[in-house]
Amino acid sequence: MRFMPTFQELEELLKEHDGEFLVFDNERPRLVILDPKKYDNLGMGSQHRSKILVTGGAGYIGSHTVKALQKAGHDVLVIDDLSTGSAASVDCQLVVGSLSNQELLKQIFSQNRIEAVLHFAGSIIVEESVLNPAKYFQNNVVCGLNLLNCMVQFGVKKFIYSSSAAVYGNPQKVPIKEDTPCLPTNPYGETKLIFEKILKWYAETHDISSVVLRYFNAAGAEVDGSLGENHPVETHLIPKVLQVAAKQEAVLSIFGADYPTPDGTAVRDYIHVVDLAKAHILGLDKLKQESGHFVYNVGTGQGHSVKEIIDAVMEVTGKMVMIEQSARRPGDPAALVADAGKIRDELGFQPAHSDINSIISSAWNWHKKLYNLEKSKNLEAETA
Ligand code: UFG
Repeated sequence: MRFMPTFQELEELLKEHDGEFLVFDNERPRLVILDPKKYDNLGMGSQHRSKILVTGGAGYIGSHTVKALQKAGHDVLVIDDLSTGSAASVDCQLVVGSLSNQELLKQIFSQNRIEAVLHFAGSIIVEESVLNPAKYFQNNVVCGLNLLNCMVQFGVKKFIYSSSAAVYGNPQKVPIKEDTPCLPTNPYGETKLIFEKILKWYAETHDISSVVLRYFNAAGAEVDGSLGENHPVETHLIPKVLQVAAKQEAVLSIFGADYPTPDGTAVRDYIHVVDLAKAHILGLDKLKQESGHFVYNVGTGQGHSVKEIIDAVMEVTGKMVMIEQSARRPGDPAALVADAGKIRDELGFQPAHSDINSIISSAWNWHKKLYNLEKSKNLEAETA
């Protein structure tokens, strides 16, 4: 194609030719026009492409969300100190480092065009927070503030926050609505609530819009078996019951059988991690359309007791689970079940994988892989 088009003609040609042609001037090539996507593929545009920064993206919920973001077409950059996460769980640009390192944060924000931040990084174990609150105030409040202040400095305006049902404490009424008074019963929940309040003020004073997602109990694994829960120190109920089913542990301790619940054991609302990941995408879409500060429960509205979970694990896996009764764990509320109406009505969120059997069977597939159970079963069969 050899001619000098007008600007209007150029626009028309770009549509017609998928944005790819040469412009000649006096028989000499002057300008090469490429499809912007192809320009990126050449590795020349990466600084100019907008990215989603995911803190703690190598962790359990973070890595499932990174995958969902990529599926939705986003370019993702993860920062993770790998204290509990693993580099193998993400297939994107990964900066290994801590949010306490303000210089590192500035470097990330100055070298990349960050469109929004999804903030997963933090400490999450209720019992540990009772024993070592300072760690929780440092990791969940101070580090979060470093991140926010960097966003102010670099003009990044969208924030999705991993909060927790732990902000409610021991609610008077279950299911819990978002406007239920927040009275945390442990330092973990307190730090999550403090940071929510900081976000509310940053929305007003610095124009940083936020979607706060109050997670109920995340569980399950990627349906294709590629990702799952693997904390260095496991404290969560479903993986612990599966460890016993897989004979990695001898017995499951039930922490408290004297709660004011139908069978005396604590009740929780379990949400499949893939559904939870989807909630972040919807949150991001919300902030593309509206600015402000928005708070949502992410749960199913269904509660399951510890005993019900153990029964469901035995049914799904076909394995026996030995149990023992122990004292209540400090800081544990009796029942946490979401009223999930607000996120359904405002963001169109519908859990698709969160019935308890789907949660447990996806987690079981993952755990079998983790413990090499299929392989050892085959070996047993071969040597028998
Ligand atoms: N439990 C046992 N035995 C175990 C492990 C847990 O009986 O070996 C009980 C706990 O005491 C609790 C219930 O199972 O009553 C669920 O415990 P998890 O540790 O799985 O989860 P938590 O409810 O304590 O906490 C989780 C997240 C928090 C989040 C909370 C929101 O870790 O970050 O869900 O509901 F705040």
